[in-house]
Amino acid sequence: MFPLTLSCMIATAIILLSCPLFLEGKQPPHIVFILADDFGWNDVGYHGSEIKTPNLDKLSAKGVRLENYYVQPLCTPSRNQFMTGRYQIHTGMQHQIIWPCQPYCVPLDEKLLPQLMRETGYATHMVGKWHLGMYRKDCLPTRRGFDSYFGYLTGSEDYFSHQRCSHVPLLNVTRCALDLREGEEVATGYTGTYSTQLFTDRVTSIIAKHNSKKVTPLFLYVALQAVHAPLQVPERYVAPYSFIKDPNRRLYAGMVSAMDEAVGNITLALQETGLWDNTVLVFSTDNGGQTLAGGSNWPLRGRKWSLWEGGVRGVGFVTSPLLKQPGTVSRQLIHISDWLPTLVGLAGGSTDGTKPLDGYNVWNAISKGHASPRLELLHNIDPLYVDIAPCPGSACQGLPVSNAPVRRGGSTSNPWSWSNSGFNVSIHAAIRSMQWKLLTGYPGCDRWFTRPGLENSSGTNSSASVNHLKPVMLFDVEADPEERDEVSDQHPNVVDNLLRRLGHYLQRSQPITFPDDDPRCDPGTGAWGPWE
Ligand SMILES: *[C@@H]1O[C@H](CO)[C@@H](O)[C@H](O)[C@H]1NC(C)=O
Ligand SMILES: *[C@@H]1O[C@H](CO)[C@@H](O)[C@H](O)[C@H]1NC(C)=O
Ligand SMILES: *[C@@H]1O[C@H](CO)[C@@H](O)[C@H](O)[C@H]1NC(C)=O
Ligand SMILES: *[C@@H]1O[C@H](CO)[C@@H](O)[C@H](O)[C@H]1NC(C)=O
Ligand SMILES: *[C@@H]1O[C@H](CO)[C@@H](O)[C@H](O)[C@H]1NC(C)=O
Repeated sequence: MFPLTLSCMIATAIILLSCPLFLEGKQPPHIVFILADDFGWNDVGYHGSEIKTPNLDKLSAKGVRLENYYVQPLCTPSRNQFMTGRYQIHTGMQHQIIWPCQPYCVPLDEKLLPQLMRETGYATHMVGKWHLGMYRKDCLPTRRGFDSYFGYLTGSEDYFSHQRCSHVPLLNVTRCALDLREGEEVATGYTGTYSTQLFTDRVTSIIAKHNSKKVTPLFLYVALQAVHAPLQVPERYVAPYSFIKDPNRRLYAGMVSAMDEAVGNITLALQETGLWDNTVLVFSTDNGGQTLAGGSNWPLRGRKWSLWEGGVRGVGFVTSPLLKQPGTVSRQLIHISDWLPTLVGLAGGSTDGTKPLDGYNVWNAISKGHASPRLELLHNIDPLYVDIAPCPGSACQGLPVSNAPVRRGGSTSNPWSWSNSGFNVSIHAAIRSMQWKLLTGYPGCDRWFTRPGLENSSGTNSSASVNHLKPVMLFDVEADPEERDEVSDQHPNVVDNLLRRLGHYLQRSQPITFPDDDPRCDPGTGAWGPWE
């Protein structure tokens, strides 16, 4: 009798000590993170879009819509911050995206989110777009914390052939080659299957194989190709949108519908396997919509690749039976770098072993409506910024502000020149603090694009920029999310403080990593992938 009781007590103590979450009688939640590509502010039904997204609308209505949520203006930067919890200035990746032939990746001494989740005991799976570098095998998802990977490594490709066309330097040829991998091996045999379908099938099969009775929690990162260019979609998704005149917008709307269906299917799979009751599902875009390829950020200014709200204010929501205040809208300041500490916190893990984080654990802000611990947000500082896409409207085609002369030593017309604020205001940069957003240099395409199809009824001025750009601009983005009313003259102290903050961050920046293309990237007749 006695020995049996004692051994039971010991066994119980061991279980309790080794799994603190069991004390509360619950397992760590399954975490499913769905990242859409180039999905714009005005492209989701619940923001009033003409595009129908019934699944996103319904899931977010039952969850928490994040309406003061920020991402980075480009693919690689957002994914980089999601994976590291750190600003780009701290990883040397503050400039642009990784092009197929560039020999770099997220620095290998950065500890990534899936590594932390794996250490906490999660099964970790990734499906879809990587775009965090692949010139060496050490850079691949399976070497950076994912148990399994199925997807493509570069930034964009054909949705059906899964081929990426890219210029190979020195050889001076354009190669179109497959970019699709199963783990580290090239995946053939999927030609003709639309990637939104292909990736959803893979995700639902991972979910089905993950036995709900098993104690192993699941971390599933779904980085959809949708809805990035090229504009390709099976006809059945486009049919309901014959009322949209603009052919780009019409195709794009069909792509969004396919993506919405994908999210619905993934959710259904979680419900059917019984995982859903203990799942936290996050949906996020990676950056603002690309107006050149059907996207819309109306009524926000700018678009992808710019630091205007249209580039960085993201569509996002969290849905889960575990939320304490479901069915609410959050206006707390939340940033894509916050997911790492938030999700690792939910998992009951530790962020020890990462480099100093810029992200905050925002779970209580999301789940309980508490105040966000984030008071400031560095959008970026990129001294090498160039907007490579044509921006319609004269204001954008004129002289970029970053080429404007900057007076030294200050003057009444430009009292915040680089030398007395400590920050060179020709540099492309933006920072947010409370309601204030300060931009310096040329922020990127500054147009207010019209509401698709509804130019006349929206009351919006469809013309190009009304303001003349200034080297330093201040907006109250709480009161003025469209960034129409530039108020730097009225708030010199705010400007001064924020310029000092930029100076502080600039001093602590890593040098930019943006190497020349390496012709050894040439896939020839094979596939894009590691060449070193
Ligand atoms: C590269 O090829 C194109 C045509 O394919 C040619 O016009 C161009 O001059 C070539 N550039 C160099 C540097 O050889
Ligand atoms: C969603 O599931 C339905 C029913 O199985 C299927 O017909 C459809 O192709 C799926 N869509 C996607 C995008 O996976
Ligand atoms: C200020 O920044 C711009 C843009 O990055 C750069 O071209 C210029 O050389 C800088 N000026 C000084 C004085 O450092
Ligand atoms: C609607 O706007 C277009 C230009 O975008 C203009 O040509 C047309 O006259 C307007 N229609 C009405 C009814 O205002
Ligand atoms: C629209 O903006 C232009 C400047 O780009 C301005 O001239 C025009 O008056 C504005 N129209 C309205 C209706 O506000």
